[in-house]
Amino acid sequence: MTTSLDINAAHGGTLVHRIATPEQRQAFLEASETMPRLTLDERAVSDLVMIAIGGFSPLEGFLGRADYDTVVTDMRLANGLPWAIPVTLSVEAAIAESLTEGHQIRLDDSAGRFVGVLELTEKYAYDKQKEAINVYRTDEEKHPGVKVVYDQGEVNLAGPIWLLERDPHSLFPSYQIDPAVSRVMFAERGWKTVVGFQTRNPIHRAHEYIQKCALEIVDGLFLHPLVGATKKDDIPADVRMRCYEIMMEHYFPQNRVILAINPSAMRYAGPREAIFHALVRKNYGCTHFIVGRDHAGVGDYYGTYDAQHIFEEFAPDELGIMPLKFEHAFYCTRTSTMATTKTSPSSPEERVHLSGTKVREMLRRGELPPPEFSRPEVAAELARAMRMAQEV
Ligand code: ADX
Repeated sequence: MTTSLDINAAHGGTLVHRIATPEQRQAFLEASETMPRLTLDERAVSDLVMIAIGGFSPLEGFLGRADYDTVVTDMRLANGLPWAIPVTLSVEAAIAESLTEGHQIRLDDSAGRFVGVLELTEKYAYDKQKEAINVYRTDEEKHPGVKVVYDQGEVNLAGPIWLLERDPHSLFPSYQIDPAVSRVMFAERGWKTVVGFQTRNPIHRAHEYIQKCALEIVDGLFLHPLVGATKKDDIPADVRMRCYEIMMEHYFPQNRVILAINPSAMRYAGPREAIFHALVRKNYGCTHFIVGRDHAGVGDYYGTYDAQHIFEEFAPDELGIMPLKFEHAFYCTRTSTMATTKTSPSSPEERVHLSGTKVREMLRRGELPPPEFSRPEVAAELARAMRMAQEV
């Protein structure tokens, strides 16, 4: 692999498109009267969307048994292509019993809206604990990703899907930039190399530092905050997006940065999810992907740099996207700059770093995080959001 990857290569070679044409949609609407109906939760709807828009290429549907088994044990699809997270649709056994392979199933969201169709090819039982241990490296139910697996049904439904219609996002329509579009935007700007950035937290100066360090060596930065389901104590997506808008207005060069939403749900699978996040950004057209400290981690489940080490388990050209790995960044009071231990001679007392929990506690007490940690405009926005949440 060179640093100027073919920007148009999706994972597996072809960008998947599973959005119904107007004719297909009409036919589905007519046939839906007699289709069995399944209600999807928020994560399953976002998975459906991600498959349909090509964000999960080469997946064309929810994983069948052969792919599921090799993804869980070997981080590969049955054909050998790297894939780190099982994307499955699980239901209770009684529901699975009532459905027949070869039939089309109408998929509704939790509001009862018809959102897609599953062409059911397979139903299979699976081992939840095995999935937990392999994918999340723990079988503890208090891990938020493991809890989802334990709470879901015991039979996986598999088969290709169709998304009925690609609706604009209810909160962030102007930032809904699907892979087919981001690729065109990169090409129009003449970007040969683009670094993707995953995040589920409000932007702080360490994020900004690693984003800009990365941008120094590539043509463009694709800021791609995740706005799908997250755990309850994560800061809501609308607040995070406002922080990013502030950053775009004041702190980023407009011509080098694109802000877009990633509709996926968080899994909190740390290292495995870092691979998954990278492949998703490859599908959006990125050639590079930022992996910092404890990427997609939660609690103490993963070592600080496990999400970086896992990339060594693949040959670079197998993944087709290059990880840019960053050490834990902080503000160094000795040199008055953002830095890491690679670039700063500081002693631990000279490093300003705050955990997300610490920041939330400060905001709850009405204190602003310091400018060494957060840009003042972002700190003010977080404080405002916290005040509003407390008033409700
Ligand atoms: S994540 O769950 O999406 O990974 P977060 O939004 O906090 O959480 O992190 C986004 C990216 O920034 C990840 O690659 C993470 O490793 C990196 N990151 C966050 N904080 C730091 C930091 N202080 N130093 C280096 N990298 C960081």
